[in-house]
Amino acid sequence: MAPGYEPTGIEKLDSALGGGFPQGGVSLIVGPTGIGKTILALQWLAEGARRGENVVYISTTVPVKRVREYYENMPFLSDVVSKIRWYDMTPEPRELIPFTMEKQKKLFHKVMPDIVDEELNMKVQVHRGVIDSITTLEKIIGDKAMFRYVASRLIRYFEEMGISVMLIEEAGNGNSEYGGEMRNFSEATIVMDYIESKNMYMRAMKIVKRYAVNHPTYWMPFHISEEGISL
Ligand SMILES: Nc1ncnc2c1ncn2[C@@H]1O[C@H](COP(=O)(O)OP(=O)(O)OP(=O)(O)O)[C@@H](O)[C@H]1O
Ligand SMILES: [Mg+2]
Repeated sequence: MAPGYEPTGIEKLDSALGGGFPQGGVSLIVGPTGIGKTILALQWLAEGARRGENVVYISTTVPVKRVREYYENMPFLSDVVSKIRWYDMTPEPRELIPFTMEKQKKLFHKVMPDIVDEELNMKVQVHRGVIDSITTLEKIIGDKAMFRYVASRLIRYFEEMGISVMLIEEAGNGNSEYGGEMRNFSEATIVMDYIESKNMYMRAMKIVKRYAVNHPTYWMPFHISEEGISL
């Protein structure tokens, strides 16, 4: 079977991605604060919800209630805001280190009790999931090797459950290395950043990788408005 894809509804981006983000795979969005990562992720979830998919947004930073309040009146989201499942995931270090199977079960059931049972079985098939952001988990864990292990376990779980997952990563200021620890896990990586053009800075995104797709590699300028991101 040809690998499927999960569109964002942003036509130019979907076409550059060969249809959308990989279905049942891992995507990574990397960028500095305020660039538009959360909006892109929510647009992707909203598109899934509009297609009748079950979609999940997990916040590891801002309380998810606040996230919802920030964006719910934007027209790109308002029609499906109640169809998205919103969760907080703010573990303490001891809930992640060492990351045993018991701890994984406890964490997932605690975060999403209505869809994950105590044995990690899904009560509802979830199609798309966003973790905003993976950087927080990296900071909680503190150790690179340990973080890579936790991340690989989470990713394997999502893959086994057939969920298309989007991870969001905070790019440090002046950090030229995009997508630090996570870039090797992803099948699609998009970098969002400010690029200089005619002495002005504008928002742009670049597809760094998308397996099995002959994608453009140049910066694609984009705008944010009430309607979300447009290219
Ligand atoms: N209605 C709007 N019109 C134009 N721009 C907007 C609008 N709403 C939000 N923005 C822009 O979107 C930005 C926030 O986007 P978003 O929350 O997706 O960023 P982010 O990359 O997730 O940032 P963070 O790292 O802080 O979570 C704001 O800084 C603002 O510039
Ligand atoms: Mg954000």
